[in-house]
Amino acid sequence: MPGVVETKTQRAEGLASILAIGKANPPNAMEQNTFPDFYFRVTNSEHMVDLKKKFQRICEKTAIRKRHFVWNEELLMENPCLRTFMEPSLNVRQKVAVEEIPKLGAAAATKAIEEWGQPKSLITHVIFCTTSGMDLPGADYQLYKLLGLNPDIQRIMLYQQGCFAGGTVLRLAKCLAESTKGARVLVVCSETTTVLVRAPSEEHQDDLVAQALFADGASALIVGADPNVETNERPLFTIFSTSQVILPDSDGAIGGHVGEGGLTATLHRDVPLIISKNVSKCLEQAFHPLGISDWNSIFWAPHPGGRAILDQVEERVGLKADKLWASRYVLAEYGNMSSVCVHFVLDELRKRSIKEGKSTTGEGFEWGVLFGFGPGLTVETVVLRSVALD
Ligand code: CAA
Repeated sequence: MPGVVETKTQRAEGLASILAIGKANPPNAMEQNTFPDFYFRVTNSEHMVDLKKKFQRICEKTAIRKRHFVWNEELLMENPCLRTFMEPSLNVRQKVAVEEIPKLGAAAATKAIEEWGQPKSLITHVIFCTTSGMDLPGADYQLYKLLGLNPDIQRIMLYQQGCFAGGTVLRLAKCLAESTKGARVLVVCSETTTVLVRAPSEEHQDDLVAQALFADGASALIVGADPNVETNERPLFTIFSTSQVILPDSDGAIGGHVGEGGLTATLHRDVPLIISKNVSKCLEQAFHPLGISDWNSIFWAPHPGGRAILDQVEERVGLKADKLWASRYVLAEYGNMSSVCVHFVLDELRKRSIKEGKSTTGEGFEWGVLFGFGPGLTVETVVLRSVALD
């Protein structure tokens, strides 16, 4: 197999770049301002008047306008176990997630491949990432079948990483693309709240925050080094450096446990504080080699884990108003889609840069940062270099 011989002998010459971005969301879209009424009605919880008011307050504070879901009212009605707080329901949740996650991922991948404009037979590696559903063979294998990829494609399946994984996949894709000349890595993140939708509970109020925040969607990227100008491959962002760190004194701040009742998320109230306190150190370490210390002189793509996270990062780092507009936009229009969000943010950045006639894909800036935040508490820091626009 020619690919294997090359793997052992030849590295790429340049750094890995993102060559295309694709996105997909399920058709069921729900407005956040009507969600509390819907949610308390379908879960037969209207009698919990104070809890509903609290849920309305949380939904208002999220700064989310709408979210998309794989599930819909019909599915909830057909499966009463999804409308209780914690009845055994894992079989139902698994069935939906195992079927839908690869399909949603394939829809995003198809768009990425279309933008890339090259034959899919040139894809050498697949990284598939999801926090929703587990199966053997996994969602990576189902994607291979749905897209008709090469049977000798080199697959990596990442389950249960949580929201920081939008950065993890870039770290892995960079390694693969730079260590093998000619490698083209299809990265797919696909997430669904089917694993965690459940009725409200007085005793578990942080679950309310999860019900108000999380949403469904998929992103796909093509990553490769040494773009082939003859076939019109065009980089969007170069992946300059990547790192992962576990934040001090953050044990247990974000977690998720899978049991018979599905996935229950733990979201400590201090998550925005812990992240914002540590972001400056991550920035200093990542940008020291470039001699950059003005955080307003770079473009920003942090994971929009929640409105308060973005607010507190902006304040602590001293960012100008609107510096985090792309993350705020993705949060507002799609909610927290876990690993998927940061790729949507990159897509918004490059699209608005073109629309507004900026000189680079990073709003006219050369350098930028992508942050993944998630369980641990773990932070993925990715330094990106934008590309000049004609
Ligand atoms: N647990 C339980 N209740 C909480 C809570 C939490 N973590 N955070 C806020 N609340 C409650 C408050 O007590 C308050 O209740 P009352 O109105 O009864 O007093 C209500 O929510 C609204 O809170 P605030 O008035 O203080 O409003 P806010 O400005 O803090 O906005 C929020 C609320 C939108 C939830 C905001 O706190 C936020 O964005 N928090 C961050 C959420 C978070 O942790 N996101 C990370 C998700 S995990 C992730 O992305 C990665 C992954 O791997 C899954």
